Amino acid sequence: MPIIAPSILSADFANLNSDISMVNDSQADWFHLDVMDGVFVPNISFGIPVIKAIKKHAKKPLDVHMMIVQPERYIHDFRAAGADVLTVHYEACIHLHRTVQDIKAAGMKAGVALNPHTPVQFLSEIIRDIDLVCIMSVNPGFGGQTFIENTYSKIETLRKMIEVSASKALIETDGGVTLENAASLIRAGADVLVAGNTVFSSANPATTISQLKGTTISS
Ligand code: DX5
Ligand code: ZN
Repeated sequence: MPIIAPSILSADFANLNSDISMVNDSQADWFHLDVMDGVFVPNISFGIPVIKAIKKHAKKPLDVHMMIVQPERYIHDFRAAGADVLTVHYEACIHLHRTVQDIKAAGMKAGVALNPHTPVQFLSEIIRDIDLVCIMSVNPGFGGQTFIENTYSKIETLRKMIEVSASKALIETDGGVTLENAASLIRAGADVLVAGNTVFSSANPATTISQLKGTTISS
């Protein structure tokens, strides 16, 4: 079964507690938290104080996706705030190997995210050191965007790279995930589905999470 990570970016920020409870009581596996700095991406979301507040109520791991420049400056702050998985962007890290090692040394799982234009092959020298690869299936910055179809072939190529290298990295797909494309993404090799708009703008978010969780290769 896929790991389901609802993106809190699409939650009701004025009623975060009720959305956190909904995720706690649902079949979701992780909370996906999108941190944006207005520099790496053209949007600003939330940061460390909000993550700390969410951690107090969340009963599931926090999957923190950092869309910021120089993410290495904040590794310990995000750990202290409660991050369990910390994902940095390939495009934002000059010393990616060092940053990945620092994230793991701080006690978190280390993720690396790739923008839609970045080839998965760029991770070949580091794939065995990474716990998660986040394939961006939209250009990062906003929820509710349209899924980029080229994502399937990136996931397939990455799945082969992971098998050949005996890496244990999970493949996460982030952006534009819907009930319609979830099965195809799993078929291509995705382990983790992030979903913001699909979950939070549905009439019954918990049911939508169950439907995503129940997605199989043959769905
Ligand atoms: C986009 C974020 C995503 C976003 C996904 O920059 O990284 O996590 O919340 O939202 P949807 O599922 O609505 O495309
Ligand atoms: Zn994200």
